[in-house]
Amino acid sequence: MADRNYPIEPYRIKVVEPIQRTTKAERERVLKEAGYNVFNIAAEKVFIDLLTDSGTSAMSDRQWAGIMRGDESYAGARSFFHFEQAVKGIFGYKHILPTHQGRAAERILFETVLREGDKIPNNIHFDTTRANIEYRGGEAVNLVNDGAYDPEAPGDFKGDMDVEKLRRFIEVNGRERIPLVMLTVTNNSGGGQPVSMANIKAVGRICREAGLPFFFDACRFAENAYFIKTREKGYAERSIRSIAQEMFAEADGATMSSKKDALVNIGGFLALNDEVLAEKLKNLLIITEGFPTYGGLAGRDLEALAIGIEEVLDESYLEYRIGQVRCLGELLDEAGIPIYMPVGGHAVYLLADRFLPHIPRNQYPGWALTVALYREAGIRTVEIGSVMFARRNEETGEEEFPELELVRLAVPRRVYSMSHIRYVADALIDLYQERERIRGLKIIKQAKHLRHFTVRLEPL
Ligand code: F0G
Repeated sequence: MADRNYPIEPYRIKVVEPIQRTTKAERERVLKEAGYNVFNIAAEKVFIDLLTDSGTSAMSDRQWAGIMRGDESYAGARSFFHFEQAVKGIFGYKHILPTHQGRAAERILFETVLREGDKIPNNIHFDTTRANIEYRGGEAVNLVNDGAYDPEAPGDFKGDMDVEKLRRFIEVNGRERIPLVMLTVTNNSGGGQPVSMANIKAVGRICREAGLPFFFDACRFAENAYFIKTREKGYAERSIRSIAQEMFAEADGATMSSKKDALVNIGGFLALNDEVLAEKLKNLLIITEGFPTYGGLAGRDLEALAIGIEEVLDESYLEYRIGQVRCLGELLDEAGIPIYMPVGGHAVYLLADRFLPHIPRNQYPGWALTVALYREAGIRTVEIGSVMFARRNEETGEEEFPELELVRLAVPRRVYSMSHIRYVADALIDLYQERERIRGLKIIKQAKHLRHFTVRLEPL
């Protein structure tokens, strides 16, 4: 008997998709051609792909059966009503508008409610949310608790918003300039940390007192609910569904990327109570996404989503899901590899600047780690650090670096087995032994915005 309790998959495998191992020489060639940017690598040349947990889930046999049963009618499709009923049963809001993915829901919402100069607070905005706010001339403000930026600070709910900061923010800016308040569950840009029910209720109360609408960015709501169940007093005996219902009851609506906790490969939605706002959103939806009963999705997508969003509430699934991510974190932590603690819901985040202390920030240690991990083991990850977030100071011309230099190992849902996870941990442990050999990089070509997607580099 092994001394570790590895989480056991609560499913068996019915369909397989081969993945290929490549040689180190081949990967070296691939990296060179890709300009040392893992976004430029063909997925076929990747052995284990931890780039994202978004849209990469494995669907169940029931979902695939739903794909065949999708109703492709332009208006009033059966699949839409199935989708609407499933989402309403969990979220509880009156109006449910499908969109092709999360950022489309964000765009439609902000295009409708935001005027230039408005401010939207959140615990931490995800990049697309921030971009959609800034694109409309608004300001995206992060009001997460200070501990979120400390990778060693203990805490069960490091995704919590600092409610005192929120109160002051509303006082200083006035409710006229704040179209709504958001809360991202779990907090992807802050280590995938959950938000507590107590915090959700506190934010809800402040918003009601101030007369401000409160919206969730609900991508990983089920993972958040599972953390509440296992960590917050009074919730141990409650079902995930009822915890999710209690969370959503505190707010007025949500944007959702179904590519995460609805266990599908594409899709999203807007959910809200306000009748007048829903009408406006619907009109914009028709112009840019599609008729309100399909909103940019095929009937089969809605069918798979309706089934997936129920499956994600299954506790044995969530226990396994969160357990698998935690297990990867533990394997790394026990080997002395610096990671963001505690481990979040969908990903383990490496502290790249501590992993590679000999590489200065302007030689991109996080990026260097993604390149080395691909070169040595065919594993693809994503840098969330200096290449992604550094800003050039207009006066000095120097780059200013973000607080954290992270590499995210995002674990797709129901895709990889524990052997794959152990392979990833072993590869990282080997790499850590030889970390002094890893060199930094310099940028040779970059775009003005979101440079990480297309940047090309050279090893130093
Ligand atoms: N909000 C959060 C918290 C997200 O993590 C994402 C996507 C979105 C909104 C946007 O949703 O991709 O369907 O348009 N996150 C992915 C990731 C891309 O890799 O973390 P989308």
